[in-house]
Amino acid sequence: MTTTPADYPRDLVHDAKLRDGSYVHIRPIRPEDAPRLQELYGRLSRETAYHRFFTVMKRLPPDWAQILATVNYRRRLALVAEHEGASGAGVEIIGVGRYEPTDEPDTVEVAFVVQDDWQNRGLGTILVRDVLAAAAARGMRRFRAYVLSDNRRMLDLITRFGDVHERKTDQGVTELLFTRRAERAGATR
Ligand SMILES: CC(C)(COP(=O)(O)OP(=O)(O)OC[C@H]1O[C@@H](n2cnc3c(N)ncnc32)[C@H](O)[C@@H]1OP(=O)(O)O)[C@@H](O)C(=O)NCCC(=O)NCCS
Repeated sequence: MTTTPADYPRDLVHDAKLRDGSYVHIRPIRPEDAPRLQELYGRLSRETAYHRFFTVMKRLPPDWAQILATVNYRRRLALVAEHEGASGAGVEIIGVGRYEPTDEPDTVEVAFVVQDDWQNRGLGTILVRDVLAAAAARGMRRFRAYVLSDNRRMLDLITRFGDVHERKTDQGVTELLFTRRAERAGATR
């Protein structure tokens, strides 16, 4: 049975059209999504998993999946993108964007992942835009991201939507501190 937390932000639910014409359903995560986060992890290539988690595990541990799926929709929030899976597999989560609190009150850490066969269709762009907008609406002003230094796609996405104030690279990981840039035509694709 699907339970919906009382403070579930329904205003963040919408359908989005990707560049290839397909539609995905975007909605805030729910605690019962934990098993489907594990299934998503199981479908990721090693490279995508490594770019997201900086480690490659055989599977996403159930307790970690439960933590990732359980947010308070204010200081911690995640949006999932879902789509009907192939050959009656049911609805699958194919992308996740999230923010997590940091030690600084108005600063959150963001992270994104899109399943390999859904990449390059514009979904990452939609998740970045929606997560930053949801965070800003909840009073989060500054964003941190940890991105592998060779991850041009993610670094480009951040500079498309944000004004970068700090950037440091240590052992192949680039840490960025940025603020959300007001949306303009080029940033809403
Ligand atoms: C980063 C990620 C979320 C982007 O998702 P996506 O759905 O592929 O993103 P989009 O389709 O919106 O593409 C974003 C832009 O990157 C561009 N791009 C695609 N491949 C690229 C590459 N190899 N190098 C540079 N840019 C690239 C796309 O062309 C697009 O720009 P455009 O809109 O001007 O064409 C996805 O690739 C991913 O899950 N990567 C692994 C996990 C990860 O790196 N997470 C970041 C850690 S926070």
